[in-house]
Amino acid sequence: LSLGEATADANVPHDSEIYSSFKGYRVYRLQANSTKAFDALVKLHDEGDLDFWKAPSFRGETDIMVNGNQEKELKDFMGFYKIDNTVLIDDLDILMNGQRLGRLKSDGKAMSWTEYHYMETIFDWLDGLATFYPELVTLYTIGMTTDGNPLKLVKISVGRKDRHKPGVYIDALYHGREWISASVATWIINELVTAPSRYSTLLKNFDFYIMPIMNPDGYAHSCNYNRLWRKSRKASGTWADFLGCRGVDLNRNFGFHFGGPGSGTIPCSLIYRGTHAFSEPETSAVRDFIYENRNVKWAAYFALHSYGQKWMTPWGFTEVKPVDYDELIRVARIGVAAIESHRGTKYDVGSAPDVLYMASGGSDDWFKGAAGCKYSYTIELPDYGFYGFLLPSWEIIPSANETWFGISTALRSIARMR
Ligand code: ARG
Ligand code: ZN
Repeated sequence: LSLGEATADANVPHDSEIYSSFKGYRVYRLQANSTKAFDALVKLHDEGDLDFWKAPSFRGETDIMVNGNQEKELKDFMGFYKIDNTVLIDDLDILMNGQRLGRLKSDGKAMSWTEYHYMETIFDWLDGLATFYPELVTLYTIGMTTDGNPLKLVKISVGRKDRHKPGVYIDALYHGREWISASVATWIINELVTAPSRYSTLLKNFDFYIMPIMNPDGYAHSCNYNRLWRKSRKASGTWADFLGCRGVDLNRNFGFHFGGPGSGTIPCSLIYRGTHAFSEPETSAVRDFIYENRNVKWAAYFALHSYGQKWMTPWGFTEVKPVDYDELIRVARIGVAAIESHRGTKYDVGSAPDVLYMASGGSDDWFKGAAGCKYSYTIELPDYGFYGFLLPSWEIIPSANETWFGISTALRSIARMR
């Protein structure tokens, strides 16, 4: 039943009239200043009734989306615990209009960064790249999702195909609503493929493996039904399906310290980790791809998420730092300095628990802890919260430009270390 439903979902035309409206929705930014208030926030988060755009962290801020009914309860709650707060987004419905979804000819050549794009357009473009740049590009479909969408990964490599250079792995769109991450990933692919001479040092040192859409089902759902969908879309086969609580948080499903703090056990949780490590087609496809490519030494990993402007290191599952933490921070600082030099965008640097919150089962931890990738990072792309997930289309190019400048500068530093 649930599977058939999901397939039907995926086929509904894009201008669906049932696209969720967010009239009267607001986003609040909270700052809990006492342990008591923080503990209450964590409890509210774990109850799972509210959409936390940013989960609670002790030192940092917490962003919560509410509708008209929930707003009054939240205000009472904040008053009771004396939690400082501001309205981050006053009217979500208005911001929804700022993200244009492009309609390009699907001839495999068309791509643009002045608007966002449907999954189908992005995949057609990837297919085209493999056709038009066979010397540079190898396209893999490393698995299929529950809704029958492909998990596509491009390898960009110069020189002899029988030799492996150290790998740089970049992926994006773990979470359906984080549209900017896929656009940045396609921008990076485009730069490397259309201007390889500009990146000859990088391409001499590394092979690039880039997966712009880790969660196609969640992205399709965000494009077609509910802009703010986060998780994947697989039914859990439990009572939760009848409440509409689909999917797993793919960034809690990786098999390194799976099940630790900051990951949910109930299917309705926004950070539901799934039944066991790699229980999901998306995550197990990545694991299998890495296992099948055992001869690749992974030099660097970048998981692109949004929002918050943070360049984060492992570990995510504990406040304990990896032994080479200082070196990871050194390179991260080089990256954010490059980003800031571009147009002044400021990033926080630190481990995930230090600058955001603790979360277990993340891809960054697995790449470092299990795949042996030293320089493993999660990047929270712009913005800082003014638009949140609803970053307008005109921000795509500047964001992509500065991010790639940051990552490529960091990579040059990593290459010099080897
Ligand atoms: N916003 C990301 C998430 O919630 C942060 C992940 C950081 N990495 C980690 N292992 N905790 O998935
Ligand atoms: Zn994310």
